[in-house]
Amino acid sequence: MKKLTKNQLALYNGQDKPEIYIAFKGMVYDVSSSRLWKNGRHYEHWAGQDLTKELSDAPHNANVFDKFEPVAYLI
Ligand code: HEM
Repeated sequence: MKKLTKNQLALYNGQDKPEIYIAFKGMVYDVSSSRLWKNGRHYEHWAGQDLTKELSDAPHNANVFDKFEPVAYLI
């Protein structure tokens, strides 16, 4: 699988590239298909980042990632 650095991930923020990525627990997920991540924004959170710690602010658990295949490792 591909590897992305934090700096590379930052470009997948919904503004600079067409694909929208978020990182969670060392894996990078492509959420481009989600209407809930349109333009890289999800409530007060932004894509292109490692959002592992922010999950505790969410009203849902990590099961929301089940429908997304990881596309890369975050290194
Ligand atoms: C204030 C914070 C947040 C709110 C209010 C919020 C709200 C929601 C809601 C209402 C959904 C719809 C599905 C469900 O409830 O199971 C959802 C889905 C999702 N959330 Fe969050 N969320 C928050 C933070 C986060 C964070 C920090 C992450 C990443 C670590 C995240 C990742 C996702 C993903 C991947 C989905 C699935 C999208 C889809 O199925 O299209 N959320 N969120």
